[in-house]
Amino acid sequence: MLEPDGTPALELRGLGKTYGRGSGAKRAVSDVSLSVRKGEVYGFLGPNGAGKSTTIRMALSLIRPSDGEVLLFGEPVSARALRRVGALVDGGTFYPFLSGRDNLRVLAKTQGSDGSRIEAVLERVDLARDAKRKVKGYSTGMKQRLGVAAALLDDPDLVILDEPANGLDAAGIQDMRTLLRGLAADGKAVFLSSHLLHEVEQICDRVAVVHKGRLLREATVREMLDQGEALRVEAEPLDKAAAALDGRWPFERAEGGLKVLAGRADTPAIVRQLVEAGADVFHVGPEEQSLEEIFLTMTRDSDA
Ligand SMILES: Nc1ncnc2c1ncn2[C@@H]1O[C@H](COP(=O)(O)OP(=O)(O)OP(=O)(O)O)[C@@H](O)[C@H]1O
Ligand SMILES: [Mg+2]
Repeated sequence: MLEPDGTPALELRGLGKTYGRGSGAKRAVSDVSLSVRKGEVYGFLGPNGAGKSTTIRMALSLIRPSDGEVLLFGEPVSARALRRVGALVDGGTFYPFLSGRDNLRVLAKTQGSDGSRIEAVLERVDLARDAKRKVKGYSTGMKQRLGVAAALLDDPDLVILDEPANGLDAAGIQDMRTLLRGLAADGKAVFLSSHLLHEVEQICDRVAVVHKGRLLREATVREMLDQGEALRVEAEPLDKAAAALDGRWPFERAEGGLKVLAGRADTPAIVRQLVEAGADVFHVGPEEQSLEEIFLTMTRDSDA
């Protein structure tokens, strides 16, 4: 490592992008700040059109930011710093008429390396068996894995992947998870985007939620899950219970009861309210929300 310990591998400061000019101008990203450390997998989450790819392209200097700056390993972007970055954008671009292995050979040449890592990276993404086949015969998932192999070819310290799970089946996603956790365990920084929350929930240490070009929240996966605290209430008659909670706690009907957006500390007050309203209480307990549900709530709230 060239930089002092603790220097983020990637830092985005107030990053913004407007495509086009004048009346046709389109604000795609506004004021995105975040940093990715060595040894962590950082997820950049958002629905379609949120600005994930735009941000990733700016982080890689593939497009120029309209505002803000990108630091790689604590310094402004330079050719030297970019050599320490491996990336997968748009699923990678490969020669369809060459085999997976030959594509990596071509890439190694352009990187000025001897290609000694080719077999190891093919093994790592589980493509060794299909490495002889032409890429035009590859499935989406295989191309995606070849893209990851290409990103890893020059042994980068920072790996940036735009939607690495695209086109992968459940087993492929599981393999990707193992692969990315392995990279983080080796001390690399991994920055990935996704619109599929249930995967990043298990891959990432930290996540940032982006919506309409803005960061809504940055937190550890645990913090995200905690903020979506909810209680499950089972009481009868349910209509009476619902009426008793109305206006005091947000809730929605869930199978066999109510899901109330409240924390454990609210339990006594909720029970009292229900009993006073004449409802019989059978159960009040924590209900864990998935990141998916929290994400939906967050993006819905920001639309309002
Ligand atoms: N080259 C471009 N010119 C004009 N507008 C663009 C361009 N690229 C992206 N946009 C717009 O910027 C916004 C953000 O797009 P971006 O591709 O960054 O989103 P994304 O989060 O990657 O979405 P997806 O999940 O669909 O990949 C969108 O409204 C998109 O239409
Ligand atoms: Mg995208």
